[in-house]
Amino acid sequence: MSTDAIVLLKSDHKEVKAQFREFQKPGKTPAQKGKIVDTILELLTVHTYIENEVMYPRVRELLPELEDDVLESYEEHHVADVLCMELAGMQPSDERFDAKTTVLIENVTHHIDEEEQDWFPKVREGLGRKQLQDLGAEMLEAKKTAPRRPEQPSAMKKAIDAVVS
Ligand SMILES: [Fe+2]
Ligand SMILES: [Fe+2]
Repeated sequence: MSTDAIVLLKSDHKEVKAQFREFQKPGKTPAQKGKIVDTILELLTVHTYIENEVMYPRVRELLPELEDDVLESYEEHHVADVLCMELAGMQPSDERFDAKTTVLIENVTHHIDEEEQDWFPKVREGLGRKQLQDLGAEMLEAKKTAPRRPEQPSAMKKAIDAVVS
């Protein structure tokens, strides 16, 4: 079985985009939307984790010329993380739930497009077939122990703790 890292990441992207389309279909009840968002949060948490922990650091190390793309992507992940964390604490009936989900979808769609169109092709060019296979195998391993629910970024947690204590 192929474990090509880019093939695996693109298949994750496809799965999450299918859930985005599901959310955007008219006539969904809040309960249905809540379930779809739960699925989106889980997919994004796992996907972001394997990119942050395996793909991005390895690309940074092996292809220093892609440093700026990787750094920008970390920042885009961070924005998505914050939105995911906030959504995880909301009810589908909350006034801002749909709006926040829409902003998450817009941000992540933009990010996925940049990965797939801008810099994954450069990664494929820069790393050989064998390296991409190894990277993918490592990502599949990391997936097994990846977190499945958004966690509070530590800086955000500190700020919240400071306010409530
Ligand atoms: Fe990403
Ligand atoms: Fe991705």
